[in-house]
Amino acid sequence: MAEPINVHYSASGKSFTAVAINTAAKAGEWIKSKLGAYTTLGTKTSPADLVTEIDKGSEKLIKNLIMTHFPEHSFLGEEGVEPGPLASAQALESVRDADYLWIVDPIDGTTNFVHGFPFFSVSIALAFKGEVIVGVVYDPSRDELFVAEKGKGAYLRGKPIHVSSEAALAESLLATGFPTDPVAALPVNMRGLTAVLPRVRNIRNGGSAALHLAYIAAGRLSGFWEINLNAWDLAAGSLLVQEAGGRVTDTTGQEYHLGVRNIVATSGGIHGELIDVLKQAEATGME
Ligand code: IPD
Ligand code: CA
Ligand code: CA
Repeated sequence: MAEPINVHYSASGKSFTAVAINTAAKAGEWIKSKLGAYTTLGTKTSPADLVTEIDKGSEKLIKNLIMTHFPEHSFLGEEGVEPGPLASAQALESVRDADYLWIVDPIDGTTNFVHGFPFFSVSIALAFKGEVIVGVVYDPSRDELFVAEKGKGAYLRGKPIHVSSEAALAESLLATGFPTDPVAALPVNMRGLTAVLPRVRNIRNGGSAALHLAYIAAGRLSGFWEINLNAWDLAAGSLLVQEAGGRVTDTTGQEYHLGVRNIVATSGGIHGELIDVLKQAEATGME
């Protein structure tokens, strides 16, 4: 009798995770080789929302590699979607229930990339029927590749990683992001910042949501929140945090899913306290 087909392997024999890792590593190396060498700088939703031809080239490279291995899978990449929250939501809706969906941010941290600030990443996730099952975040500046598989843990350089153990905001190091939309999102973020900062050890804005999440998974940050993000910023990093023992919800405490835009991710013990502070400050998102 014929062996049943193992869904984790393609015709080429490569597992989903192996393809995600190889693709992120290749794209990351290419991006790094282009540091300081982009030629076209464009803007999207605001003068601070940047895009270069390297973002687009990275996404093309990633899509080509993934589609070579898994031509029947669906693909959602930031650069293939019109800018703006409405278009992002529609793009996600059109592929959300696909059996296999790859969700890609080809450079998370474009502003850093443009300025040569070495904190940016490639984020690649694979979802099965809407649930993230593989998440890879690669930081080419440090050659750190964070990888998680649903139910199998999170790893950095082959070693399991775990979230940190802070039990109170007062002993926590958090991260957030400053929105590029100065009209609607920034005032909400500033309310959150003003409320959270006096209660924690400190707050960082490294400039890559995906790397912030990977750093929670690695125990380097206690938590992260940001409003108005997209599936490609969050999908891979969310699985990393969960598989490293942490918690990921929206800013009101609802469990993470691909449609979440306002995120709270923590090592666990401070999760409720952080959400309470954001709620009290009316900083959970935009109406
Ligand atoms: C951005 C980064 C940044 C976050 C922004 C994102 P991009 O992604 O993740 O840290 O604060 O909200 O848009 O545009 O560099 O892919
Ligand atoms: Ca991003
Ligand atoms: Ca990006």
